[in-house]
Amino acid sequence: MTTVDDVAPELVESFETTIGHHDRIEPRDWMPEGYRRTLVRQIAQHAHSEIIGMQPEGNWLTRAPSLRRKAILLAKVQDEAGHGLYLYSACETLGVSRQQLTEMLISGAQKYSSIFNYPTPSWADVGTIGWLVDGAAICNQVPLCRTSYGPYGRAMIRICKEESFHQRQGYELLMTMMRGTDEQREMVQESVDRFWWPALMMFGPPDDDSPNTAQSMEWGIKRHTNDELRQRFVDMSVPQAEALGVTLPDPELRWNEERGAHDFGAIDWDEFWTVVKGGGPCNAQRIAHRKRAWDDGAWVREAATAFARRSAS
Ligand code: 3HC
Repeated sequence: MTTVDDVAPELVESFETTIGHHDRIEPRDWMPEGYRRTLVRQIAQHAHSEIIGMQPEGNWLTRAPSLRRKAILLAKVQDEAGHGLYLYSACETLGVSRQQLTEMLISGAQKYSSIFNYPTPSWADVGTIGWLVDGAAICNQVPLCRTSYGPYGRAMIRICKEESFHQRQGYELLMTMMRGTDEQREMVQESVDRFWWPALMMFGPPDDDSPNTAQSMEWGIKRHTNDELRQRFVDMSVPQAEALGVTLPDPELRWNEERGAHDFGAIDWDEFWTVVKGGGPCNAQRIAHRKRAWDDGAWVREAATAFARRSAS
């Protein structure tokens, strides 16, 4: 492993100047091993989240209530697959293959977002995921368009445009249900009750318990801390919930004039860590499904590799 001590000082200086100027590091540039490893960890986790995130909504593709809703949902789930592919490609520029990344996901060596380990028993969950989950993703990911690693930042620009469409389609779906029957309104409220707290957990542990934030901020990989983004999300969601006519399930949620932000109740971090460590309601199912798809696709990868080899010779 190359350490800062082994490399020419001008390379280290060039890296630090680029970071200091908020410019981009590109794959051809020298970078510290820790920077590369942190990027692989974060980008891979992000890519895996996009791919695993197709499952909870994919659950509703065959049961969408109209052709229009089915077409929209299909497009959204396909977008998530595309996001996974851009991110795996960005990760490959750091010297790790897609095969290695997928194997690390399946073996549990790499993580994916906690939120996708919750079930989607109701059609309203499709709208709530769009509104709250894609909404939280936008909050977290718009600043990542300015991340210091070029391929990651460029992937994020396109991803954020699409996530923005996803968020609006979810909100529009919920708004339509809220204009419907009492039963539909109850479905929306019940779904929001289940997803609100897990959505707040998406931003990661509190800053004091986040081992990676300080260094990632110093390297310009992250532009804001977990708590800053979580607060931004709460402040953004409260007026949206009011307009929708739903109650966010937190009796302590209120505007704090002094802070110019909303106070909110305590997050259940035990639940968060249980889910992150594999004990959530759907962890086993999500990974088993991904493994099955990977194993079923083995012959396609083998055939494509054989074809490429023959074409090259
Ligand atoms: N779910 C699972 N694991 C989480 C997590 C979450 N919600 N939040 C934090 N963790 C993990 C971290 O990965 C880290 O574990 P590791 O060291 O083994 O990787 C540990 O908990 C400690 O957390 P840190 O705060 O120190 O970790 P980070 O500095 O990496 O911050 C993060 C976590 C804010 C999620 C950051 O990695 C990030 O911004 N990632 C990019 C965005 C992303 O991955 N989003 C996935 C969301 S969903 C999505 O994009 C799909 C869309 O379609 C909705």
